[in-house]
This record gives sequence, C-alpha cells and structure tokens, in this order.
Amino acid sequence: MDSNGSKANNLTIERLDAAYGAVRVIEGVSLNVRSGETVALLGTNGNGKSTLMKCVMGIVPPIAGRIVAEIDGVAHDLVGRTTEEIVDLGIALVPEGRRLFPRLTVEENLLLGAFRKKARAEIDANRAFCFECFPRLAERRAQLAGSMSGGEQQMLALARALMQSPRILLIDEPSVGLAPVLVARTIEKIKELKERYKLTVLMAEQNFPQALRIADRGYVIVHGQIAFEGRSAEELNNNDLIKKFFATSSWPSNPGHDVERLWSYLRSPQPPARSGGATVASVWLLRLSASATKPAAFTSSTNVRT
Ligand SMILES: Nc1ncnc2c1ncn2[C@@H]1O[C@H](COP(=O)(O)OP(=O)(O)OP(=O)(O)O)[C@@H](O)[C@H]1O
Ligand SMILES: [Mg+2]
Repeated sequence: MDSNGSKANNLTIERLDAAYGAVRVIEGVSLNVRSGETVALLGTNGNGKSTLMKCVMGIVPPIAGRIVAEIDGVAHDLVGRTTEEIVDLGIALVPEGRRLFPRLTVEENLLLGAFRKKARAEIDANRAFCFECFPRLAERRAQLAGSMSGGEQQMLALARALMQSPRILLIDEPSVGLAPVLVARTIEKIKELKERYKLTVLMAEQNFPQALRIADRGYVIVHGQIAFEGRSAEELNNNDLIKKFFATSSWPSNPGHDVERLWSYLRSPQPPARSGGATVASVWLLRLSASATKPAAFTSSTNVRT
C-alpha cells in the first residue's frame, strides 16, 4: 500500500549490469521509482538509457542484478521473464523513435496496444480515454500513422501504451525529433496523463530542462553508471553535472544569436578559414529551422553568397 491507501505500483532496480557481447554498457545501476512518481533518467547519447529500459522490459537480459516491480501491491521479479510476461503484468514502454506501424491507421495502431489480456477487456473505455486526452487522434483515427506529423506520432505512441492499461510506464526520449514547441507540449501531456491515470513513470531524456519541468526527481546516467541522484527537481537543477551537460548540450541556448552567426557566415566573401565551416552552418540551419522562434535576422534582404 502507498501513503494514499491504494495499492502500490513501483519499480526497483538493484546493482544492474548489462552488456552487448563483451561491451558492458550498464554497470551497477540501482534506482527506484515509487508509486505515482515521475522519475527522470537523464543522460546524453549512448550512456545506456535505452538499454536500461530494455532490461526492465526483458528485451536485453541483464548479466547481474535485480529488477522488481510491485504491481497493485504484488511484487514480481522481472529478470528472466519474457517481454510478453512483463507487458502482461502492466508495464508498458513507449519506445525511442515511437515504433508505430506506419501503414496502419491511428485506430489500428491503438488497438494493437491492447493485446494484454486485462487491456482487451477495457478496450472501449481505454480508446475513449485516449481520444478524449488526444482529440487530434480522434479526428485522425482513419489516417495512416506514417502520414501523421512527428508530434502527432509521439501522441499516438503514448496513447498506444495507455491502451495496455499500464500501471508502470517507461517512456524513452519522448522529445526525440520534435521541435521545441512540440517537446514542451508532449512533456505537458505526459504530466497530465500521469496525474489523470495515476501512473508511475520512468522517463529517459536528454532534454534536461524539459524533463525537469515534470520530474519529481531523477538520476543522471553517465557511461552506464548513475553519476548523480537528485532527490528533487530542484536538486537536479542545481547540480554541476546537469549544468555541465546542459551548457554543452547541442541545442542552442539562444537561437537568435546563432542565426546572426550563421547569417554572417553565409554573407562572408571568403569561406571561413576553419575547416568544416559549411557542416557547422548546415547543422545550425537544421536546428534553427526546428526552432519555434523566427529570428529577426531572416527578414534581412542581403544576398547570400554560394
Ligand atoms: N544492439 C546493440 N548492440 C551493440 N551495442 C549496442 C546495442 N544497443 C546499444 N548499444 C551500445 O550501448 C551503449 C548504450 O546505448 P543506449 O542505446 O542504451 O544509449 P542511450 O543513452 O539510450 O542513447 P541515445 O540517447 O542515443 O538513445 C552505446 O554505446 C551503444 O552503442
Ligand atoms: Mg536511447
């Protein structure tokens, strides 16, 4: 039982090790997600976030350690179980990159989420709940999933997981591939769902500021090890590791400033002395084009040299 008297749904990982062949990618990871919490697993590319989630789901077998999920007050050891058994217990994964069926409709994708026995009995209620939470999916129920926008596809991936009637939800990098305004909207939706559905959530992210907006607390994973455990979002915010990663993160902190630099590069009579200038410029361009703001520099009528 949790403090509210309802049955507990929580996740405990103890001294977990995982490897691909001889390469160890998770080393001695211990973490927990208590009933009703949203815990962030923060880390930049290649640090083991997805691998950890795959271990919980039985997709990657750990080489050592324990993973225990308490579902409706009953504890289950997950290591050694198949993914089907783990899903059946009430643990759902919203995978990185969404993994929808692009040639099936929105509604067909949703229905495929409901293969868990318990969820099959709740299809109508869950579908109605999904359509209420995501009105856009209701409007587009007959549209092919592959033709939806990135943000809509992320909503569909979340809704599909809800069709499993989960107690514990793992969300792997919901912000990937989304423009900043959609990232913010997706993150807010996760918060709303978690509150309405009373879910226990573990969310992997490398967009630290967005994740910290909704996380109760979190862990920073570096090279497969927990480098820092923040007992509150505030503690994470004030942590030097977070500041270091965020300061060096690939997302420009001031898009306007970067546009000015890009613009002066494009207008310069000589190519920049530094090698790779064109690549740097095109990377900026890609990022900036995804930015929500339209910086003033783009209103300039100056010719661009090619
Ligand atoms: N199937 C695999 N075979 C071999 N190595 C793998 C495999 N999957 C992941 N790895 C390696 O394991 C390490 C951790 O990868 P993982 O995908 O867990 O990181 P991540 O934190 O989720 O990264 P990202 O933010 O890019 O998704 C990386 O070095 C990666 O190259
Ligand atoms: Mg990943």
